[in-house]
Amino acid sequence: MHLTAREERILVGEEGHGRQKAMELLVALGDIYRAKRLIPISSAQVSGASFKTIGDAGIKFLEDFSEQARVTVRASLNPLGMDVRRWKTMGVGSQFHAKQERIVRAYASLGVEPLYTCTPYLAGNRPRGGQHIAWAESSATVFANSYLGAMTNREGGPSALAAAIIGKTAEYGLHLAENRAPRVRIDIQEIPEGLAPLAGFLVGKIAGKRIPYLPGLRLTADQHKAFGAAMAATGAVSMYEFAAPGDRERVDTSLIEERVALPISELESLSDGLRGDDDWDLVAIGCPHCSRNEIKRMASYLKRRKPANSSDVWFCTSRNVYRSCPKEIGILRKFGKVLCDTCMVVAPIESMYKRTASDSGKAMVYLPTLGRQRASFRTTTALLEAISR
Ligand code: F3S
Repeated sequence: MHLTAREERILVGEEGHGRQKAMELLVALGDIYRAKRLIPISSAQVSGASFKTIGDAGIKFLEDFSEQARVTVRASLNPLGMDVRRWKTMGVGSQFHAKQERIVRAYASLGVEPLYTCTPYLAGNRPRGGQHIAWAESSATVFANSYLGAMTNREGGPSALAAAIIGKTAEYGLHLAENRAPRVRIDIQEIPEGLAPLAGFLVGKIAGKRIPYLPGLRLTADQHKAFGAAMAATGAVSMYEFAAPGDRERVDTSLIEERVALPISELESLSDGLRGDDDWDLVAIGCPHCSRNEIKRMASYLKRRKPANSSDVWFCTSRNVYRSCPKEIGILRKFGKVLCDTCMVVAPIESMYKRTASDSGKAMVYLPTLGRQRASFRTTTALLEAISR
């Protein structure tokens, strides 16, 4: 990979050990993927923020790094393992809290913005179309590439942090226009209400490593958020192309090698297969973190109803969204805990609950594995009905 004179100087340590380590990581990745050069990024999204996912080794890495470097572009942080204010209420123990606080402090001294959300694009860090970024959170990466038209690979936590420190990333993969063309066309009819996450779940399985093209996919921004998150959880690709009926010329379909029909009946049978039981300990909504519109819609449904007191309820969102709609948050709080900074997957849920219901396709992948839960899928409407009367 070609490096500029300044990049060479960083690589030999002339700008400090922290920047040198970050540059070494970027160069190693660039060499593996045969990148020709580093390119500037406008923002980074760093994952690896929960003590549950990074453990003691991760804390040591971050604390060492934080003494030697600082980010040089806007960089926001993924959800933590707890709500920084209501960690006791949500059932997090003091040992976990102490370790999580060390992670928070290390990222703060690195200069990473404490958004603590997987939806940075709803909390102030929203790239524009065509901008190169280095984002690590898989659900945010797919939303940025597919819905916002920004350009990013699915970074790992350390590589996103290295990119944030240098302000650049290696130019390969989805940073190159020629690698963004779809390879498989998937035809889905009208997606039934509440099943967009499961459509993403199936599309990810069909697409695998190939970028799918979904002509006629008509979803709201919130539905794209849920669709892409599930797609990135079951598939290995961080981008899809979609086009409304009058907008098809925009998409380069010349490399499509397979065409697959995805009938609604498959979505319905997946929904049946993921139903699980009705006896939940926890209902968890907000994977990815709820948008302001989603909070408002749920509050509008719940405002004339009463809590059913059937199980615990978590509504997960970012602190920015939480602050933006206090009235609606007040309504939701009658029905459960509205948590910021964290989610049902990266919190230590396994020490609190055994059976969790969610409306998220991504959560159906990770609740049974990372969260050790018996997971049940229901649409948002079905969950709101279940928690109220
Ligand atoms: Fe976000 Fe947690 Fe889901 S990080 S996408 S709410 S697993």
